[in-house]
Amino acid sequence: MSALSVRDLVAAYEPDLPILRGVSFTVHPGELVALLGPNGAGKSTLVKAIAGTAPILSGTVQLSDVPIEALPVHEKLARGLGFVPQTENVFTSLSVGENLQLAADRLPKSERQKQIAQVEARFPDLIKHRHHRAGALSGGQRQMLAIGRALIGAPSVLMLDEPSAGLSPRVVGEVFAALQTLNRAGVTIVLVEQNVRAALAIASRALILVEGRIAHEGVPSALLGDDTVADLYLGRKGHVSA
Ligand SMILES: Nc1ncnc2c1ncn2[C@@H]1O[C@H](COP(=O)(O)OP(=O)(O)OP(=O)(O)O)[C@@H](O)[C@H]1O
Ligand SMILES: [Mg+2]
Repeated sequence: MSALSVRDLVAAYEPDLPILRGVSFTVHPGELVALLGPNGAGKSTLVKAIAGTAPILSGTVQLSDVPIEALPVHEKLARGLGFVPQTENVFTSLSVGENLQLAADRLPKSERQKQIAQVEARFPDLIKHRHHRAGALSGGQRQMLAIGRALIGAPSVLMLDEPSAGLSPRVVGEVFAALQTLNRAGVTIVLVEQNVRAALAIASRALILVEGRIAHEGVPSALLGDDTVADLYLGRKGHVSA
C-alpha cells in the first residue's frame, strides 16, 4: 500500500499554460518526503492540486490506494489528507482555542473534544496561549497552531508548504523537531521547503521539482553526494538556487 500516489498529474491555472507537466511519485507510509526545487517550479501548485485548491487538468491522486483527485477539499480532509498551506493557515482574529475548535467542527460531535485534546497534548506550549488571538502569536507558535489545526482528525498524510518561511533558525529547528516527532509517531509527511539543509536533515527521501516535473529523486545523502544536483538545486550552503 502507498500512503500517497500521484500519477501523471497535470495542473494549470489557465488551460493552455500547464504548471505541473506530468508529475508522478509515490510516498510510502511512514516516510517524510521533502519536496524541493527552484522558485516557481510548481511546488506549491503540486501540494495545492493534491489538496484540491489548485485545478487538476489530468492525472490521478490516490490516498491509501483510493482515488481522491475528483473529491472536494472537505472530502479529502475527511479521508485523512492534512494540509498546512503557506499563508492564511490560521484565523488571526480568533483565539488559539477557537482555531482548534473550528478545525474540529467538521468532525462528528463525539470526536471533537478528543481530537482537540490530542493536539493540545502534543503542543503543550500552545495551550498556554489558548485565549490569545492567533494574530498575536510569534511566527513559530502560529506555525505550530497551523500544524495543530491540520492534525485535527488525525490525517494519515500531512502536507506542509514552507512551514519555516519567515522563522529564525532556532524556531525553524523547533518546528522541524516537531515534524520529526510527528513523523516518528506514524504521520506520513510531505514537506515543501526552501530551507534545504534543514529539510534534508529530517527527510527520509527528497523529490526535486524543476519546471513542473520531478527532475531528481533520492535519499538525502545520495542527492547531496551528486555534485550536479547539489550545485544546481541544493546550493553549496543548503539554499535552493533559482
Ligand atoms: N493562482 C495562480 N494563478 C496563476 N499562476 C499561478 C498561480 N499560482 C502560481 N502561479 C504560477 O505557477 C508557477 C508555479 O508557482 P508555484 O507557486 O507553484 O511555485 P513554487 O515552486 O511553490 O515557488 P516558490 O518556491 O516561489 O514558492 C509560477 O510561474 C507562478 O507564477
Ligand atoms: Mg511555493
